[in-house]
This record gives sequence, structure tokens and C-alpha cells, in this order.
Amino acid sequence: MAQDMNQQMVFLPEGTKRTRGRDAQRINILIARAVANAVKSTLGPKGMDKMIVDDLGDVIISNDGATILSEMSIEHPAGKMMVEVAKTQDAEVGDGTTTAVIIAGGLLEKAEKLLNDEIHPSIIIKGYRLAAVKAKELYTDIAEEISIKDSQVMRQIAITSMAGRSAEGADELAELVMKAVMQVAVEEGNKVVVDLDNIKVEKKVGGSIKDSQLVQGIVIDKEIVHSGMPRVVENAKIALVDAAMEIKSPETDTKVQISDPEQLQAFLDQEESILKKMVETVKKSGANVVICQKGIDDIAQHYLAKEGIVAVRRVKKSDMDAIAKATGAKVASRIKDLTAEDLGKSKIVREKKVAGDNMVFIEGCKNPKSVSLLVRGGSEHVMDEAERAVHDAVGAVASALNDGKILYGGGSCEAEVASKLRDYAKTVGGREQLAVEAFAEALEIIPRTLAETAGMDSIDTLVALRSRHSAKDGKTIGVNVYTAKLDDMKKNKVIEPLKVKTQAITSGSEVAEMLLRIDDIIAGSGKSKGPQMPPGGMGGDMGMDM
Ligand SMILES: Nc1ncnc2c1ncn2[C@@H]1O[C@H](COP(=O)(O)OP(=O)(O)OP(=O)(O)O)[C@@H](O)[C@H]1O
Ligand SMILES: [Mg+2]
Repeated sequence: MAQDMNQQMVFLPEGTKRTRGRDAQRINILIARAVANAVKSTLGPKGMDKMIVDDLGDVIISNDGATILSEMSIEHPAGKMMVEVAKTQDAEVGDGTTTAVIIAGGLLEKAEKLLNDEIHPSIIIKGYRLAAVKAKELYTDIAEEISIKDSQVMRQIAITSMAGRSAEGADELAELVMKAVMQVAVEEGNKVVVDLDNIKVEKKVGGSIKDSQLVQGIVIDKEIVHSGMPRVVENAKIALVDAAMEIKSPETDTKVQISDPEQLQAFLDQEESILKKMVETVKKSGANVVICQKGIDDIAQHYLAKEGIVAVRRVKKSDMDAIAKATGAKVASRIKDLTAEDLGKSKIVREKKVAGDNMVFIEGCKNPKSVSLLVRGGSEHVMDEAERAVHDAVGAVASALNDGKILYGGGSCEAEVASKLRDYAKTVGGREQLAVEAFAEALEIIPRTLAETAGMDSIDTLVALRSRHSAKDGKTIGVNVYTAKLDDMKKNKVIEPLKVKTQAITSGSEVAEMLLRIDDIIAGSGKSKGPQMPPGGMGGDMGMDM
């Protein structure tokens, strides 16, 4: 396989700037499928992880489709388009990126067969379009309504989404995700809206995933600047400042000529009095906590400590925004403009030790919808992957809450839709019928791949699965990857939001269509923006061995 692909990757003879017709299609399909194949083995709870090592030797270990593809070095435009599929899926729902890419790959694989049978691309495109619309309809038909208050279902959605990531402690993390999302969800009319900005994910290496926690407020990875300041402030009135509490050094080279010691003292006193004034302004506003985006001078720290005001410095802009949102504070860009109205409120601000480092917790905020998930992990890699899993699960639970509809996973919904799509194909007739049937087969790549990851024979599994789905009671039969048998996914509580599946169809089929439409690849002059081809044809380093 590896050699076969690599040979094919020498796209155009030296100096050729153009590939046309079937060759162009063949190349694009080949590359896109190679990209899909690269993430295929990561699908599902038994999926494997990928280790991506960059030029600098940094390592990422992940099971997340979007992460793997965005970290991989892919130069060919068709490959980049596949990466876009994952990105779109990630932006729209957060989960299902591998599924979307595999489906796109499957659609192209089946299209290639049809092209070899002399079926014109425009017929395939037409059939695929019909099938995509119908498939989304069918998914919606078989989806089940859930109550948005049903925390059991939400927990299962989080667990399904996290399956295969960070084995130890995934269930505990799923529980936290469920609680976080349900807490920030708001009902607007008959819709539920989840503002994901209200969930801040912070991470700290150390402990284990099980030590992760849900904080009712905001956690920042900073410490209180001065040892003389209190470590706990109740009924906090928080000033957010994005100006430095320091005396700026002049921007141009300036020299201050001081000729006697008195002058020097006066100069220093002047500095001190400016800083003191800043602290006075803070005090006058009524603040007992200052959170500063820039630095805080030692002298200012001293005076703040003397006043019993807690200060934190060099806080990230994104954290400043999160605190502003949570506490209702307004960020002041000049200390002298700070007034009582700008202050945010929270029940308690305190410093706590997490894995030997101090972190500041702002809890019981004015806006109860603001929460933080503090993700822990025994090593950087474990923690980072847990954070990505949290991202996916948050997206999954949020979209389930959002449209209140779920499907059963483990390939069961794909198998059911494929079976119904075949019935529909008969009503389409003509050559397009073949394309609709090919679409159905492409969907079955999901149960097939899950079966492969469980070490089952994919063909036998598919045959058995088809026959179960043609019976009345087989709608929710899928692949139990743990027992390597067909099983009822409803009973196994493998639950996914409808949106993950419909979005995967949308983005997967769009890219397949777009690639099929291309019959001419021309090396551009490089004058316009957009994906460019390397000189001498379409050669590109896929950065992987397939
Ligand atoms: N317990 C389970 N048994 C069988 N299948 C499962 C189980 N849990 C999850 N799955 C299936 O695994 C698939 C999801 O796998 P995975 O999370 O690796 O990929 P993805 O969601 O498509 O992409 P990504 O998570 O990388 O963005 C879904 O088809 C889901 O139904
Ligand atoms: Mg997933």
C-alpha cells in the first residue's frame, strides 16, 4: 500500500503544468482517499491514536480527526480540502470529524468505481446530491426526541463522544462535561441555546484525569502577586485593568541627567508617588481584587498589599474576557478611569494549590452560567488529549440539547439509513440510481471500520448487519466493539446527537462533489490567493507514509 501510494504521488511529469480529464479526477480522488485512510483507524472506542511529530520534535498524540489532520503536513489542494471537511465539522458540532472525513473518502472511493464503469461525473454528482438530501431526511426520521432535562441521556452522549480517549477517568470527565453544559444551557422560547464561551477549559498537568473538576466560576493559571496579600477574599469586588501598573520606560532613548543625590531621591519619590496614586484610585473604586492584563510594579504591589487588595498580573486577554463575562466587570484601559461601576462581583476569590502550582479561583460569580472545567492529566500528552476529548464532548452534548434529537451509534444509524437509501434508490431509477446505491455503501464504511477496529471480519459483519436491518426489529443494531459482536446500540446506550450525523453528510458530500467536478488541474502563476500547486506539477509532501 505504502509503495503503491507513493508511486502514484509522483503526479505530473517534470515541467508539466496541467493534468486533465480522468487523470485529474484520479489524482484528486487518490489524495483525498489517502487523507481519509490516514484517520480511518482512529474511529470509535477501539480506534488507535496517531503520533504526530513536527519539525521541531514536538509530539502530539491524538485520536481526534480534526487535530490529526490539522497537524499533519498536507500540501496537495485535494488533501487540504479534506482537512477543511474536518475543520467545518469541528466548528459546527465539535465532534464527528473522523466520521465526516471517512464518509467523504468513502464517497470518493465508490465514485471512482462508477467512473471506471464509464458513468459520467455529472450523473454521479446528481445521484449523490439526491442521496445526501434523502440521507439527512432519513437520519431525522429515525432520530429520537429527548427531554433536554434528561441528564442520563446527556451523560451517555458525553461518554459515547469520549469513548476511546483517555481510557482511565473518561467517564468521570464525561460526567463533568454533562454537568457543565447542562448548567450553562438556557431555554429561549422552545429552543435551548448553549453559549460555549461560558465554559472555560483550563488545564494543569499533574494528578490524573479523575482529578479533573468543575469549578463554579473561573480558574486562571496565575498566582497572587505578593505574599503580603490575603489568599482568600469573600464578597470580591473585582477590577479588571488592561493597563500596566508600572511606570513605562520611554519609547525613545532618553537620558535623565541627575547630578546630586537629592535629585535622585526626588526622582524616585516621584515614581513612587505615581504608583501610589494608581493604588489609591483602585482603592477608591472599592475594589478588593485587581486583575491586571499587564505587569504590576513591586512598589505598586507593596501598596496594594498594604491596603489588603489582592492582585494578579499578566492575565491572558481571553481570561480577562471570561472574567468580565462571568463577574460583570468592565475592563478599564486606564487606571485613572476606574470607577465603582466597572467592578465585577463574585462570592469568593481565592488562591489554591493545584499540583504544586498556585491557581486563582473566582467562584460564585454574578453570572451563574459561567463555569470552568479544570482538566488534569498525569502527563502533558494525556492532559492535552483529555482536553480535546472534552472539547468534542462539550460540542456533542451542546448540539443534542440544541435540537433535542439523538441517534444510536456504533454504525447502527448508518446501517439503517443505508438500508432505507437503497429502497429509495429504486425509485430514482436511471444511472443516478447507481450513484444513490454507492452513497448508501459509502455510509456503511462507518460500521465496517468500527468492525475492523474491533478485529472483526468487516465483510461478514456488513452482511450480517444488512440482514438484521432488513428485519423490523433491527433498527438499532450496530457493532459492539467491546464484544466484537453485533448488538443493540440502544441497549448499550451508545448515543450521539443527530446534528453530528447530518453535518457529516453535508460536509462529506460537498467535498466529494467538489472534487468530482474538477476535470482540469492547472498549475497557477501564484498571483492569486488560495491553494497553490508546487512547481512542476502536483507533487506534494503528504508528510505521511501510506
Ligand atoms: N461503545 C461504543 N460501541 C460502538 N461504537 C461506539 C461506541 N462509542 C462510540 N462509538 C462510535 O464511534 C464513532 C465515533 O468515533 P470517534 O469519536 O473516534 O470519531 P468521530 O466522532 O467521528 O471523530 P472525532 O471524535 O475524532 O472528532 C461513532 O460512530 C460512534 O457511534
Ligand atoms: Mg468523537
